[in-house]
Amino acid sequence: MFESLPDKVSIYEVSPRDGLQNEAAPIPLAAKQRLVDALLAAGIERLELTSFVSPRWVPQLADADELVRGVSARPGVTLSALCPNAKGFERARAVGLHEIAVFLSASETHNKKNTNKTVDQSIDTFSDVVPPALEAGMRVRAYVSTVWGCPYEGDVDPARSLAITQRLLALGCYQVSLGDTIGVGTPLQTRRLCQLFLAEVPADKIALHLHDTRGTALANALVGLELGVRDFDSSVAGLGGCPYAPGAAGNLATEDLVFMLHGMGIATGIDLEALIEAGRVAEAVTGRRLPGKVHQAGSFKLRG
Ligand code: HMG
Ligand code: MG
Repeated sequence: MFESLPDKVSIYEVSPRDGLQNEAAPIPLAAKQRLVDALLAAGIERLELTSFVSPRWVPQLADADELVRGVSARPGVTLSALCPNAKGFERARAVGLHEIAVFLSASETHNKKNTNKTVDQSIDTFSDVVPPALEAGMRVRAYVSTVWGCPYEGDVDPARSLAITQRLLALGCYQVSLGDTIGVGTPLQTRRLCQLFLAEVPADKIALHLHDTRGTALANALVGLELGVRDFDSSVAGLGGCPYAPGAAGNLATEDLVFMLHGMGIATGIDLEALIEAGRVAEAVTGRRLPGKVHQAGSFKLRG
């Protein structure tokens, strides 16, 4: 192990979207803005701000347009948002985003519950999103959810997730983020999945989006890292979950990932102390104790 570690890893922060979408109590726009500002101040370089989805499906993110309009990020920062359809794309374009993310699930039941579509219908819908977005000069990322397991169907055939990934890349998505939506993945399964994907797809086209529901997200990230994955999604303080995936609590905490990577000599561009501050803001914004380990324990400095 640890023979092919990189100098730098790219972290894609999802807390304002994957985190806040799952909060039951309404969170005021100003509080969301405080979280976004704190994340940007910590050096986050890629940030998923919100979703341009139906406000009836995800009321918490109904203020997406206003939130994006109010964000000012330093040059070089990529801001993105989820877009399920052409209407979402138009909203994203109107507020000046340069990147969006389409999403679907590898399992039919979760896809239906999350987007009211079959997998084929979702991919058809993306034909109305990805080409126009590329023409408008935007970049498009994609998610495939339930790759490690589905809350409704159980095991998911990895070959199915790979075939969907290849269709998304062929459509023009620059990267596909593979979701362990309900945090059921274990390291050996992650190794098999990464080996399967990396045999067919260049490593920079793959990201891992790991939920830490059962405490295995960091172990799975380490397996991906060792096999050549360089892009990881995470959420400050471990905020996160999908409202249409029962039990999908908590993304991989960004502080935990950054602590591990920095400790291994791998740069992220993020200031860990400032990130821990952003985690405190996340806790204040949500009004509840958040699960991230480094968030709770703090960082560690050797004493002289
Ligand atoms: P639908 O009800 O089938 O949509 O929902 P529709 O096209 O029939 O439209 C119904 C109404 O919604 C219409 O309004 C549309 O205008 C409106 P009405 O005429 O009735 O007043 N509408 C919209 N409004 C604003 N923005 C839009 C939009 N689209 C339609 N973009 C739809 C289909 C896909 C819209 C719906 O199912 C939806 O919004 N789903 C989103 C669910 C969601 O956000 N889930 C969480 C994110 S996924 C996730 O968390 C997993 C991930 O983290 C990876 C992982 O962990 O694995 C990404
Ligand atoms: Mg997620």
